[in-house]
Amino acid sequence: MNYLTLKKYRLKINHRQLIDILQKAYSAEKAASFAYQGHAGSVKDKNEKLAIRQIEMDEWNHRREVLQLMKRYDIPVSKYYEIRFHIIGKAISFSCYIIGWFMPFYFAGSLESGNVCEYFRMKQFFNELGVREHDEILYEMGMKEKEHEVYFLGKIKNNKLLPFFEKIFSWGGKKSFNNVNFDEKYPVEASDVYCKK
Ligand SMILES: [Fe+2]
Ligand SMILES: [Fe+2]
Repeated sequence: MNYLTLKKYRLKINHRQLIDILQKAYSAEKAASFAYQGHAGSVKDKNEKLAIRQIEMDEWNHRREVLQLMKRYDIPVSKYYEIRFHIIGKAISFSCYIIGWFMPFYFAGSLESGNVCEYFRMKQFFNELGVREHDEILYEMGMKEKEHEVYFLGKIKNNKLLPFFEKIFSWGGKKSFNNVNFDEKYPVEASDVYCKK
């Protein structure tokens, strides 16, 4: 059963999927930030370095926003996810120095593509509980992940390795893990068309 109760002046949510997705996103944003530190450190091009550093900052911001939401509903940080994503982030960060130029851009784009729907799903879960006050911020975060996906794809879209990777990992110029399209963007009130199961 999903419901909201007021307990000791704090709202408590009873929605297992929503709690899990918030805890996971909070820790995964740290993994992403770590990964981009390695990515920015490993590229030589100055503009790429700057762009990836900005994306790292965006991910730290997302982590702060998610924490605000968790505090609001008294949701604890998951120690398990924190440790797991810490290790994953550091491992990816290190690997950027040894796997060449293409793969860090490719896998960053593919991860961002999946992250878009995390925020739209969160919005749908809150809406299931009748909570609409976070619609705007969750929409903004989902759209920011889409911007990141578009940036990474733009870097590799003409690379000869892309068709091969797209075939194996199902993400690239033709395939995406979300149905957000900047050429036909829906406003926040109509954004339920995004990421429907
Ligand atoms: Fe993010
Ligand atoms: Fe991102």
